[in-house]
Amino acid sequence: MKLSVVILAAGRGTRMRSDLPKVAHRLAGRPMLAHVVETAERLKPAAIHVVYGHGGERVRAALRGAPVSWVEQARQLGTGHAVNQALPAIPDDHRVLVLYGDVPLVSAETLARLVEPNPQGVNLLTVTLDDPHGYGRIVRDDRGVQRIVEQKDASPRELAIKECNTGLLVAPAEPLRRWLGSLSNDNAQGEYYLTDIIERAVGEGLCVEAVSAADADEVQGCNDRVQLARLERAYQRRAAQRLMREGVALADPARFDLRGTLSTGRDCYLDVGCVFEGTVRLGHNVEIGPHCVIRNADIGDGCRIESHSVIDGARLAAECRIGPYARLRPGSELARGAKVGNFVETKQTRLGEGAKVNHLSYIGDAEVGAGTNIGAGTITCNYDGANKHRTEIGAGAFIGSGTQLVAPVRIGEGATIGAGSTIGKNAPADALTLTRAPQKSLRGWRRPRKNED
Ligand code: UD1
Ligand code: CA
Repeated sequence: MKLSVVILAAGRGTRMRSDLPKVAHRLAGRPMLAHVVETAERLKPAAIHVVYGHGGERVRAALRGAPVSWVEQARQLGTGHAVNQALPAIPDDHRVLVLYGDVPLVSAETLARLVEPNPQGVNLLTVTLDDPHGYGRIVRDDRGVQRIVEQKDASPRELAIKECNTGLLVAPAEPLRRWLGSLSNDNAQGEYYLTDIIERAVGEGLCVEAVSAADADEVQGCNDRVQLARLERAYQRRAAQRLMREGVALADPARFDLRGTLSTGRDCYLDVGCVFEGTVRLGHNVEIGPHCVIRNADIGDGCRIESHSVIDGARLAAECRIGPYARLRPGSELARGAKVGNFVETKQTRLGEGAKVNHLSYIGDAEVGAGTNIGAGTITCNYDGANKHRTEIGAGAFIGSGTQLVAPVRIGEGATIGAGSTIGKNAPADALTLTRAPQKSLRGWRRPRKNED
């Protein structure tokens, strides 16, 4: 049977105390809802329907480009009403898997276990909690699951039940449509409860199976920012554990943040407080010092990134040395063994093999040849206020400290530039080029003194 997924995401999320709809809040750098959609996609369903309500435009904007169809629920009249909004678009011979946009950590493996058995009946994902307060309770008798009772409608005996409804379930579309069409809202909250379908299914002699979640974290919902932070840590803990199992050394798995995907070679070491964003690839034996931010980067074997460096949109061949306090911006490409030291910024720049920019420089829109050394405080003046221009420096050049290279400009192979020069014309290969105002000394000159009164 084909599977259609319905993700409930219309809730207001009042307790977030935010103008942003709850499901658009970020978990691991992406909207909460995006995680649920991505997990759902792994089941290869026929369609994914997202039921939205509050802040609809912002929810849709947060998921731009996702392969989902949008269903509006103008008024939030309950979970049963919400699912019913999506049913007109779902054929009778599908099964309907209901997920919540604010339960972002559920795994594809758990969902696969939920949809696996009992294709003609209803399967509920349940969790047994020491403190079941607030959840719907699974009421059983010796024949099995009979119904779900909500916290607010439960008797004292039912409140003692610890087996809880996570809200996630799968049911065949045809009877579901009938059940939802005839729900009543005669209950403590005046809502159309999705959970009322269980009693109907049992009444029609269908089998209702409870599948229990692997752990409580994965079915935890998010209602406020405290819970969101808890989910974030749970996500990061799992990401850290996965990396360690893959052979990465983490100085402290509790101080690690992944907001995207990270692939690693053997024997990488990540110090505390690093943040990885977008798609990052590390080769073998890469060491990353404390408090680095690495985004959309490809870092070759044996590279060493010292503390507090920011690497964004850069490609590093093997054995490069970066930082501390370096900033590699998009389009930075470093050949083998290149070095970028403290307080150096690079952008749209290629550094040849073994080239060095060790201190306090800005190198933008440049090509730097192999083995060239760029002295402290060198600036490529790449921007004339309207356009960007390129600087080309040949292999084996030596740029003295405190030099400004006014682009467009070319420095020949093996050229030497004297310290403190402002170079606006091409400098020939293998020669010393310098611009320097004559030095003078004024004898008998006195420093200004502070007035006495
Ligand atoms: C629901 C379940 C309860 C379960 C609990 C797990 C019902 C009646 N109760 O209760 O058994 O233990 O989840 O967290 O289903 N939503 C809409 N439209 C609506 C109402 C809700 O889209 O009209 C969405 C919410 O945004 C949320 C989800 O459905 O993502 C659950 O709604 P919520 O109000 O949190 O349900 P609970 O009362 O917690
Ligand atoms: Ca809830």
